[in-house]
Amino acid sequence: MSEFEIKILTPETWELYKSARLNSLKESPDSFGSIYNQEAVLSDAEWKSRLDLKSRDIDALPLIAEHKGQPVGIAWGFIHKPNLQVTHIYQMWVSPELRGKGIAKSLLLEIKSWALGRGCSLMALGVTTSNEAAVNFYKSFGFVAAGQLEELRANSPLLVQPMTIELNSAV
Ligand SMILES: CC(C)(COP(=O)(O)OP(=O)(O)OC[C@H]1O[C@@H](n2cnc3c(N)ncnc32)[C@H](O)[C@@H]1OP(=O)(O)O)[C@@H](O)C(=O)NCCC(=O)NCCS
Repeated sequence: MSEFEIKILTPETWELYKSARLNSLKESPDSFGSIYNQEAVLSDAEWKSRLDLKSRDIDALPLIAEHKGQPVGIAWGFIHKPNLQVTHIYQMWVSPELRGKGIAKSLLLEIKSWALGRGCSLMALGVTTSNEAAVNFYKSFGFVAAGQLEELRANSPLLVQPMTIELNSAV
């Protein structure tokens, strides 16, 4: 039996999402545009509503990885209208004690297959340039640098490298 399980998050499982997301923002503050203090104050209804894709009229795949019933990884695939060709990757995070076991790769493979099913031709993301583990992870998956560096957030010295991968349904 595999050590972890990947599930699609729903409004009913918002507590798993909240737990993993807040842990990720606390543990890896330089990896994300958002910060812990902004999200720690969200109400339960707001966490639930983030996962209510139908009422938000969005096309997205919010995933959670669980290990022994605990949320240990998250990632979103997100298609922004009107460009239906691109799946954006957000919020990728794996709990430190479970890194190096292929959890992030499995999350990304799930999103890739979802993106192909949606007819997308590209996946895109932004990664902090100093985040060696993540840069190497995305490169090993086949992502390449694409475009100018951007600020992680206003007034931050941290820079984000946009990366993309072309999707080929034959792979
Ligand atoms: C980046 C991150 C998501 C990788 O998660 P992970 O579950 O450890 O990654 P995987 O085990 O699936 O690794 C897959 C491949 O990526 C590469 N990789 C992953 N971590 C690496 C590291 N620290 N150094 C070098 N290569 C690495 C390897 O090629 C690896 O394959 P291999 O172990 O078979 O050689 C994780 O380190 C993390 O959560 N970091 C903090 C949050 C973050 O930076 N998120 C990204 C935001 S853009």
